[in-house]
Amino acid sequence: MWDKQIAIDQVRAISLRGKIYFGVGAITYIEEIIGELQKEGVEKLLVVTGKNAYISCGAWEVIESALLSRGVKFAVYSGVTPNPTAEQVDAAVQLGVSVGAQAVIGIGGGSAIDAAKSAAVMLKYPEKKCADLYEYTFTPTEALPIVAVNLTHGTGTECNRFAVVSIPEKNYKPAIAYDLIYPRYAIDDPALMTGLSLAQTRYVSIDAMNHVIEAATSRSANTLSIQLAAETIRLVTEYLPLAEKDPKDLKARYFLAYAAMIAGWAFDNGLLHYTHALEHPLSAVKSDLAHGLGLAMLLPAVVENIWQESGPLLAQLFAPFAPGLDGSPKGAAKAAHAVQKFLVAHGVSEKLSDLGFTEDDVPVLTELAMNTPSLGGLLDQAPTFADRVAVSAIYLNSMTMNP
Ligand SMILES: [Fe+2]
Repeated sequence: MWDKQIAIDQVRAISLRGKIYFGVGAITYIEEIIGELQKEGVEKLLVVTGKNAYISCGAWEVIESALLSRGVKFAVYSGVTPNPTAEQVDAAVQLGVSVGAQAVIGIGGGSAIDAAKSAAVMLKYPEKKCADLYEYTFTPTEALPIVAVNLTHGTGTECNRFAVVSIPEKNYKPAIAYDLIYPRYAIDDPALMTGLSLAQTRYVSIDAMNHVIEAATSRSANTLSIQLAAETIRLVTEYLPLAEKDPKDLKARYFLAYAAMIAGWAFDNGLLHYTHALEHPLSAVKSDLAHGLGLAMLLPAVVENIWQESGPLLAQLFAPFAPGLDGSPKGAAKAAHAVQKFLVAHGVSEKLSDLGFTEDDVPVLTELAMNTPSLGGLLDQAPTFADRVAVSAIYLNSMTMNP
């Protein structure tokens, strides 16, 4: 098993923070969370969310009544879109300044929570712009307390120190990673996730799968990230079909949410590499592209690339959906094919050309992967040498489905 392959003399920093209320009905704990924040003197809050889901899933009714009954003043910024922009964060911050926000609640999937995390930082630096944060023109040292109410089972952002925001003028979709944006409290309530569409259900779980495939094979991979990867892949393989069949299957949503949460811990500790570094340019250029779909289109080619280094481990990790893979370098093509088969079985058969990308786009995408702030750092984590040639080859190999 994989534990035999761990180099025990490699010291790794393992980090897990925040308190997560996890399980069906967890949303009711929002009142307790607000009470804890009040003990620290928080009486004014900024809520950051998207347009509708926070209401339609039932979360807002509970949160609003808790805020009102606790007598906390609040303002709601509900302009976060998928692939949120730095301008949206700036607008949220302006609203937060106007109410004197002392903490931020993000309600939504990764987009809303990442915008909330960013706003929590920028409220400490209101004279600056969010783009400055994501272009690394300054290093923040403080942020307001963050509460993450998670409505999807994919990003893991409710429990880690990452956030992603786009700067559309530059086609940048950078990430930040700071200890100060660990959510102080998070809520993972599977009952809030039963309204996810079939496509969203699949994309977010594919996001979680990618988090662990990368976190287990990066240059920072460690015992925790590998162990969590094995469990994430097992749970997604078992429970995604159940959620596809019955979106209201709470047990399926529970374990998909759990898989996504531990995947969030996995990449908090093991980091990410190719698939995310190459996906961000795709959804930066096409802002309506779902992150999980972008990852799915790239994953088979990424697996084929890294198999030469990570094949023995990945053959073990992929066993729940593709038992008996050959972990040696000659098993690479078959492994990539097995991943593609898994994705197709979950209704995801699109490749880059289906989304309108052509070979002519590859130089620009490669440039963005190499030069977008922070993405180079991810590429440095790849188990194989991630130069322009390797990055271009992954994009090219992801244009169409392998026969
Ligand atoms: Fe992701």
